[in-house]
Amino acid sequence: MRCGAGVPPAVLGGVSPPPELGHQHYPGLLVETIRQIQSAASETGVIIIGGLPHPATPFAAHSKRGDPMIEQRFKAIYGTAPEVVVRAPGRVNLIGEHTDYNDGFVLPAAIDRSIDFAGRKRADRTVRLHSLDFDGSVEFSLDDIQKDGANRWSNYVRGVSKYLEEDGHRLSGADLVFGGNVPREAGLSSSAAVEVGTAAFWKKLLGLELDPVYLVKLSRKAENQFVGVPCGIMDQFISGLGRANHALFLDCRDLHYRHVPLRDDVKIVVCNSGVKRALAQSEYEVRLKQCREAVARIASTGLAVTSLRDVKPLDLESARAVLSDVLFRRARHVVTENERVLEAIKVLESGNLERFGELMNASHVSLRDDYEVSSKELDVLVEVAWKQPGVLGARMTGAGFGGCTVNLVRQEAAEAFSEAIIRGYKEALGLKAEVYICKASEGALSA
Ligand code: GLA
Repeated sequence: MRCGAGVPPAVLGGVSPPPELGHQHYPGLLVETIRQIQSAASETGVIIIGGLPHPATPFAAHSKRGDPMIEQRFKAIYGTAPEVVVRAPGRVNLIGEHTDYNDGFVLPAAIDRSIDFAGRKRADRTVRLHSLDFDGSVEFSLDDIQKDGANRWSNYVRGVSKYLEEDGHRLSGADLVFGGNVPREAGLSSSAAVEVGTAAFWKKLLGLELDPVYLVKLSRKAENQFVGVPCGIMDQFISGLGRANHALFLDCRDLHYRHVPLRDDVKIVVCNSGVKRALAQSEYEVRLKQCREAVARIASTGLAVTSLRDVKPLDLESARAVLSDVLFRRARHVVTENERVLEAIKVLESGNLERFGELMNASHVSLRDDYEVSSKELDVLVEVAWKQPGVLGARMTGAGFGGCTVNLVRQEAAEAFSEAIIRGYKEALGLKAEVYICKASEGALSA
């Protein structure tokens, strides 16, 4: 998340827009309105919190459920209190990477960083949308939802709205503001949070009785088909259906899931390499194709497989002759990762966190060497982590090529661990890591 060019951090707390700038003038006057509010705030000494949900800013504080900040943002922009507020969390994946689009298993948790939405109904079919993080405003009609090439941040909201309408759920116009503290392009699923948050917003605003899993699938469709980015179901699923203090075990083939309790004496520590995931989309597409190709070749040997989920380690060995070295290693990552997730669930439920950590470490090695989606920065973060006291396991998380690592760390060691990571990363690469000690949180669509 970044500051809008030249615009100071946005304002919180008890400041109303100048009365002459009534909300009906939105959005043309919006930026000016915000500037005036900001300057009024700085003159009066009102606390200014980094409006831009950069992770290192105090903005992080707003992510707690019930924090009034998003309501106040709405009020400052539109002049009244919002009718509804929803919060959609980002996620971290504990284990089960690049398995979701292979019909496999994943074990993510929703984190206590979110994209928050506040809004109210309008009597017409216009949606007025303001992004706090991009400091931008757009307007669109529900009768003709098109992709916006200039304001791409709005496409997640447009896509979800379009597919709800196409499915026969008639929406009403709305005034809407959204923003949050899930860092963008860091592998913590800020875009899934925007999609799922949009779905949760419409559900709540209009009182729609819609199945959460239906909304999760629709959110993924918005990402794949409207925005045009390939992904599996994991990110939207956990942003929608996460549970506080639990991870979520999901079978991505039939979407059966169950929440698995996490112990509070062990912390989930996320380390952000600060490297944007430049290659992520193109290489992700390459991996998708390689997985399909591997399945086709394995099936050509007579094995009844429709995805890598169906392939067992021994099957893979026996099909080795029909696979190139690269395809074999890609398939081996997915096949062994699925096995690791299944074991991880068992050991997590039986309290054997040492073994859970070993499985995380093995997952990293497999992603690095077989799937080749790690990076120098992620490897350094993981190698520094492996040496620290109190660390049970460490691995890259998400699609790879930058972004974050996930670490399981004993509570009493978590602070020292965070400092050691920042120091070690700086020493090795001269780069600044950010560290978030996370709490598993509630999804936006959870009952
Ligand atoms: C991205 C995708 C997910 C998943 C992960 C890798 O986050 O959005 O669907 O494939 O990469 O596990």
